[in-house]
Amino acid sequence: MGTTFSKFQASTKSQYLKLKRSASSINLNNSSLTTKIFRDDFKFLNGRRYHNIENIHYFFPNDDQEIDRLQLQHYMMRFIWRSNFSSPLRDLLEEGYVRVLDVGCGPATWLLEMASDFPKCEFTGVDIVPVMPLTIKPQNVTFVEGNLLNGLPFPNNHFDFTYIRFLNCAFPSNLWTTHAIPELIRVTKPGGYVEIMEWETKIHNQGPITERLMDALIRDIRSHEVDDRIPEKMTTYLKDSGKLKNINHDYRDSPIGKHGGRVGKLALDNSIAAFKFCEAKFSVEFGMTSEEYDAHFEHYVNEVDEYKSQIRTHRFWAEKI
Ligand SMILES: C[S@@+](CC[C@H](N)C(=O)[O-])C[C@H]1O[C@@H](n2cnc3c(N)ncnc32)[C@H](O)[C@@H]1O
Repeated sequence: MGTTFSKFQASTKSQYLKLKRSASSINLNNSSLTTKIFRDDFKFLNGRRYHNIENIHYFFPNDDQEIDRLQLQHYMMRFIWRSNFSSPLRDLLEEGYVRVLDVGCGPATWLLEMASDFPKCEFTGVDIVPVMPLTIKPQNVTFVEGNLLNGLPFPNNHFDFTYIRFLNCAFPSNLWTTHAIPELIRVTKPGGYVEIMEWETKIHNQGPITERLMDALIRDIRSHEVDDRIPEKMTTYLKDSGKLKNINHDYRDSPIGKHGGRVGKLALDNSIAAFKFCEAKFSVEFGMTSEEYDAHFEHYVNEVDEYKSQIRTHRFWAEKI
C-alpha cells in the first residue's frame, strides 16, 4: 500500500538545535496568545448547519453529524498513515517547548491528540467556526478564531510546526498561492516545518455508479469555485513560494468498501456521508426520488467491493528557509 515519492528526510542536528534555541520562551499557559471569542453565527439548510460568513468558499456543514464524520476520518487517517504527521519533528516534540499550529482545525481531533502525545509543547487551533471543545481542553491547547485568507492573528516566525489538513474544498487555486501558503509560511519559524495533508477527490478503480456519484460531487465542489486538484499542484506551489526547502511528498492508497476490512468500511461510511449531504441536489440531477437515491447506495456498496476501489491521501511537508 502506498508509494514514497521522496524519502522522509531526517532533520540535521543543526536544524534541530536552531529550533530548540528559538523555542526557549514557550509558555504552556498560552498567555502569549489572546483567545478571540468566536462568533456564533450559523445558517441552516435542508436540516444541516453551515457557517454564515461572507467571502468564505468552504461549503461543508459544521453540525454534530459533520463533527462525527471528521472525527471518524481522523482515526481512519491515523490508521492508514500509522502516524499523525510526517515532518521530522518527533524528537523536538518529545523534548518539548515548541509551538504547533493547526489551521482549519475543525473539531480539533488531531490537535487534541497531539497535545496529549506531546504534553510539553504548546498547541493552537484556528478556525472560522467554534466546533472545537472551547472549555474542556488540556492546558497546553488554545483555540483562536481566524480566517487563513484574511491573515492569521499571529506574529511572523511564531510556530515551529504549522499544520493544515483537508482544506482543499476551501479555496480557489489562486488563493492557495497568493494567500494560504504565504500565510502558513509567514507564521512558521525559519527551520520550522509546514505540513499539508489532502484527499484526492477521485476514487481509483471505480465502477459506473461510483463514477456518476464522484462526477456529480466534483461538479458540485467546483461550482463553489474551489480547487479540489490541490494534491497534484501542491509540490509546485511549495517550490514556487521560494521560502521552503526539503520539500517532500508522500501518499497512501487504501481500500474503500468491505473488501478493505474495518478501515475500508470507515472510508465507505465517510463517502456515503458526503454523498448524502448532497442528496437534495444529486437526486434531482439523477432523476431519482429521495428513497431511490438512498436505495442506490446498496449498489454503490457492492460495486466498490467488486472493483476493489481505493482512495488516495497525500502529505506534503517542507522546512522554512
Ligand atoms: C474538512 S474540515 C477539516 C478539519 C480538520 N482539519 C480535520 O482534519 O479534521 C475543514 C475546516 O476548515 C475550516 N475552514 C474553512 N475555510 C477556512 C478559512 N478560510 N480559514 C480557517 N479555517 C477555515 C472549516 O470551518 C472546517 O472546520
